[in-house]
Amino acid sequence: MCRKASTNILAGMIVSAIVLSFSAPAFAQDAAAAKSMARKSSCLRCHAVGKKKEGPSYQTIAYEYKGRGDAADVLVKHITTGEDRVKLTDGHVELHKDIMGKESPESIRNLVAWILAQ
Ligand code: HEC
Repeated sequence: MCRKASTNILAGMIVSAIVLSFSAPAFAQDAAAAKSMARKSSCLRCHAVGKKKEGPSYQTIAYEYKGRGDAADVLVKHITTGEDRVKLTDGHVELHKDIMGKESPESIRNLVAWILAQ
């Protein structure tokens, strides 16, 4: 009887540990590194986490891409190819900022994971 109860408690603990590990963000990210890179790469001139500037807020971007399995790949491409045209508030169109080669692939992935977690 006693042994059965403790087995159940143990089973419960294992289940919660598994649930907890799955509720962590899909991509582990270093938020501090991502923020400093966004500042250094002048992303924050046009983007903010919670409000629209020249570009959409990172919260809006994360919301729009929620649930899309290819989100990270699409956004990495957006900031590393310089192929996407963006329209600024004064009406002129330019190619979006491209940081290919300026940062390591890992830190670019980290920045994108952070944006998608907003
Ligand atoms: C000169 C202003 C400007 C700068 C600098 C800038 N962006 Fe943007 N960004 C925009 C605009 C405008 C859009 C909206 C494009 C659209 O939806 O047509 C955008 C869109 C985006 C998107 C969403 C793309 C999509 O497919 O929905 C991401 C992600 C993004 N920017 C990340 C960054 C990052 C990271 C940096 C820094 C390396 C950066 N931006 C620098 C203006 C800028």
